[in-house]
Amino acid sequence: MELVSNLPVYQTVPEKYIFPPDKRPANDIVNHSINLPVIDLRGGGIDSDGQDEIIRDIMKAGKEFGFFQVINHGISTKTIDNMLQVCENFFKMPAQEKERYYSDDMSRAFFLNSSTQYDKSQTRYWRDYLRIACYPIEEFVDQWPEKPENFREILSEYTLRVREIASKILKLIAEGLGLHKDYFAGDLSKGNIKMEVNFYPPCPDPSLTMGLLPHCDRQLITVLAQGTAATGLQAKYKQKWINVKPIPGAFVVNFGHQLEIVTNGILKSVEHRALTNSTVARTSIATMTMPTMDCLIAPAKELVNENNPPMYKEFIFRDFIKAYDAALANREGVLEFFKLY
Ligand code: OGA
Ligand code: NI
Repeated sequence: MELVSNLPVYQTVPEKYIFPPDKRPANDIVNHSINLPVIDLRGGGIDSDGQDEIIRDIMKAGKEFGFFQVINHGISTKTIDNMLQVCENFFKMPAQEKERYYSDDMSRAFFLNSSTQYDKSQTRYWRDYLRIACYPIEEFVDQWPEKPENFREILSEYTLRVREIASKILKLIAEGLGLHKDYFAGDLSKGNIKMEVNFYPPCPDPSLTMGLLPHCDRQLITVLAQGTAATGLQAKYKQKWINVKPIPGAFVVNFGHQLEIVTNGILKSVEHRALTNSTVARTSIATMTMPTMDCLIAPAKELVNENNPPMYKEFIFRDFIKAYDAALANREGVLEFFKLY
């Protein structure tokens, strides 16, 4: 078992975590003057007044950035913080408690691992992670750990609440696209909900390492919580990286490949990566709304026409996942399999 959270506190970065210069953070330019839009969802009940403005904001942010933050979304800061804390407590448990969960078996409803499966080079990423199948809860809860205390209760509550937010945002997006508001509510979002909980311990020299490689998310949409202790997540914006600044109680929302494909590129799935920092451990929780494995995916008929022909082939979601794994999560690599021109 090889976990960053089990390493002794080092003064220097161990060799196997040091990336070659062309893959280090400083190899790319960071634009510090741009921030993601922050959208206030209050009053945005799907049938209430005020939602037109919210839809407009989401579509504008979605088209320009593919990424935005939401506040006043209906989940209390306490619920989010409890979830972040219990996850952090998991990583801080003694090695022998964690050992039995260490695996890379994707068929397991809960496992712990480190670095990433999407980079076959020798260098390891400064990151531990949990992969959790969360929903339907009854199907998976028995396979979740009982420690730390209340882990199952907190995870259940959090899953249900984030699921509501994801479906609310999907409805607003559907309306913004001029589709039926339940366009995404079927098989496109009825797969299992999965979580990726990322834990980045403080790193003696963040300039030599990476937390998470640049990638686009494979699913439909991601709702991410991050602690406020440190900045780490960066999104691509006009060929440069921008920091996704932590806002207490906010969620970061980004589109997965499937939303880009279904909207025929109107909404973009944008590359993002995570850096480490030298002072505090950073925890983030990505909740992924997935299509069912058998879901047929293609650009929405309503969004294509002679002047705007489909840019992607039809495919089954299961085959996308295979291609994503084969392309090691590389954006262009995976789209190569599905784009028409
Ligand atoms: C992810 C992800 C970013 C972060 O898990 O897919 O992009 O901030 N995480 O950890
Ligand atoms: Ni991601």
